[in-house]
Amino acid sequence: MKLAVVTGASSGIGQSAAVQIARRGVGVILTYRGNPAGAEETAERIEKEGGTAVALRLDVGSSDTFPAFRQSVAAELRERWQRQTFDYLVNNAGFGQMSMFEDTSEELFDRFVRVVFKGPYFLTQTLLPLLADGGAIVNVASNSALTSGVESGYSAYASAKGALIVLTRYLAKELSGRGIRVNAVSPGPTRTRISDDAFERFSDAVPAMAARTALGRIGEPDDIGMLIAALLSQEGRWITAQNIEVSGGFKL
Ligand code: NAI
Repeated sequence: MKLAVVTGASSGIGQSAAVQIARRGVGVILTYRGNPAGAEETAERIEKEGGTAVALRLDVGSSDTFPAFRQSVAAELRERWQRQTFDYLVNNAGFGQMSMFEDTSEELFDRFVRVVFKGPYFLTQTLLPLLADGGAIVNVASNSALTSGVESGYSAYASAKGALIVLTRYLAKELSGRGIRVNAVSPGPTRTRISDDAFERFSDAVPAMAARTALGRIGEPDDIGMLIAALLSQEGRWITAQNIEVSGGFKL
C-alpha cells in the first residue's frame, strides 16, 4: 500500500486532496493546525470509503517542531502500516490575507515567508529520509505567482508562492536521482476556508470572479484535489518540475 503525507488537510484543498488520494488506495497521514474537528472529518470521510487515515498536529510555520513531527510520522508508519517510509508528500498548508504593498507589515511578510515558503522547504528536507525512492511531491502554490493571476493586494503572499514554484524545480532536479518527481499546482480562486472564510464573508464578489473565469465559475476544492492525486499517481509518472495552473482559465 502506498502512503501519503498531506499538510493542512482539515479543510479546503488539502481535505479534498487527502480524500482523492485515499480513493486511489493510498493510506493518508494528514495534518492540521487549529482545526482538529476538520481533520477528524477528513479522516472519517476517508475511513467511510474504506481507506485508512491518521491525523497529526503540525504548525508548518514552526520549523523547530519538524524533527519531532518526523518522529511521529515514523511511529505511525511503523505501528499502523509496518513501513519505514512513505511515498507521497503534499505541501498544501497555507494561509491568505489581502494586504496592499504599502500597508504590508514586516510581521505579515515574515509570516508568509515562514508558512508558505520556509515551511515546505524545511519540512520536505526533514521528511526526506522517510520519503521512498520513486515517490512524488506536490507543492500547492497559487496563480497569484503567475502573470495570469496578478491582483492587487498579494505582493508578499504571491512572492512567497513564487519562491515555492522555483523551489519545486530545484527539488525536481536534486531528487531526480532517487526517482522522486516534484511538481506544483497553482489554483485560481477556489471556494475554501482561506482568509478566514473570505469566500463566505464576501460572497458578493464571487459572481465577478466567476465572470472572469473562462469556464464560468470559481474553483471547488475537488477541482484541485483530483489533480493533486493524479499527479502523485502513475498517471503523473512522466511529469516533473512542472507548475500547473488549475484555475478554469482565470482571466483567460
Ligand atoms: P483553507 O484555509 O481551507 O485550508 C488551509 C489549510 O492549511 C488548513 O488546513 C489550515 O489549518 C492549514 N494551515 C494554515 N496555516 C497553517 C500553519 N501555519 N501550519 C499548518 N497548517 C496550516 O484554504 P485552502 O484554500 O484550502 O488552502 C490550501 C492551499 O491552497 C494554501 O497553500 C493556499 O495558499 C492555496 N491556494 C488557495 C487558493 C484559494 O483560492 N482557495 C488559491 C491559490 C492557492
